[in-house]
Amino acid sequence: MIVSRTERKWEHIRYALETGQKSSSAFDDIKFIHQSLPDISVLDVRLNHSIGGLSLSSPIFINAMTGGGGEKTYQINQQLAMAAKETGLAMAVGSQTAALKDQTQRYTYEVIRKENPSGIIIANLGSEATVDDAKAAAAMIEADALQIHLNVIQELTMPEGDRDFSGALKRIEMIVKGLDIPVIVKEVGFGMSLETVRALISAGVTMADVGGFGGTNFAEIENKRRKKILPFFIDWGIPAPVSIIEASSVSSQMTIIGSGGFNSGLDIVKGLALGADAIGVAGYFLKILVKEGIDRLREEIDSLHHEMVLIMTALGAKTISDLKKTPLLITGETYHWLNQRGIDTKGYSQRSIQSKRG
Ligand SMILES: Cc1cc2nc3c(=O)[nH]c(=O)nc-3n(C[C@H](O)[C@H](O)[C@H](O)COP(=O)(O)O)c2cc1C
Repeated sequence: MIVSRTERKWEHIRYALETGQKSSSAFDDIKFIHQSLPDISVLDVRLNHSIGGLSLSSPIFINAMTGGGGEKTYQINQQLAMAAKETGLAMAVGSQTAALKDQTQRYTYEVIRKENPSGIIIANLGSEATVDDAKAAAAMIEADALQIHLNVIQELTMPEGDRDFSGALKRIEMIVKGLDIPVIVKEVGFGMSLETVRALISAGVTMADVGGFGGTNFAEIENKRRKKILPFFIDWGIPAPVSIIEASSVSSQMTIIGSGGFNSGLDIVKGLALGADAIGVAGYFLKILVKEGIDRLREEIDSLHHEMVLIMTALGAKTISDLKKTPLLITGETYHWLNQRGIDTKGYSQRSIQSKRG
């Protein structure tokens, strides 16, 4: 049975809520080194940070989820935008292809800009998009940046999904050249390898959201929509912490965004310390909003910020940049993975905030 794009959007939300996010065990492989003399106060800690010329008041942002599925997706986007505005988070919209194909769906995305006129809002399209599509999607919500998502495993598992992925890098290159806002290339939960990041750099991309494995699992979601499942894609992917390290190892010119399974202040701080400049959260926020309401979502975002301040104080890190100098150990399977991939882990375990402060 062929379902419409609008119906599919709703099925994704339903199955994402049902399958849930299983925070990747790879986060447990990352251990901070306790410091007994951090020499700072909680009042010194600042969560604001800049990425690609965008000034963020928090490194957490609401990652791309929805729009294009009629009234229910309008309501979700409206509430996510309200929560984003009140807590100072940037927010990405779900793929806008639905509204480019059917103008009657535009309102489900435009509501985000209406609710949050001066917030940082990120447009979203797939890698099949043309430069004109990208300009139209950005204009629709007066976007500050545009995400292009890469979702090969999702498409292959999706019964009605794409089967031809040729030419994506070339189209991305054209979009980067043709747009006057930052372009972020993102995965949707299968992670980005260092080879992918190298290829993106060659196409002029300067911001990559690694969208690592371990959170929302689109192979599991699409398998729910299939008669005969493809079990081999369910465990397919690069865990978020591993992917952040792989991506960071390529070039300091690339701004790395971490996402995929982030649902605690500790994991967010770990992601930033490993090299990410911002952390996207999708499924975890959606679940809280839909099951417990907008007040609980606001509370949870405040609580994540509070946890981050406490952890950064313990580490003696006043800023997100300081976190990138805090020593940490990479253990277990993550250590072996990186070793096999020729990525040095000593750089993380032997660095120091103190020495950089002089
Ligand atoms: C219901 C739902 C819909 C999504 N739709 C999109 C989308 O349209 N475009 C996109 O780039 N990513 C989409 N994503 C992927 C998220 O942006 C994110 O990359 C992924 O869910 C991993 O993050 P998480 O573990 O925090 O959910 C969607 C995620 C969810 C849960």
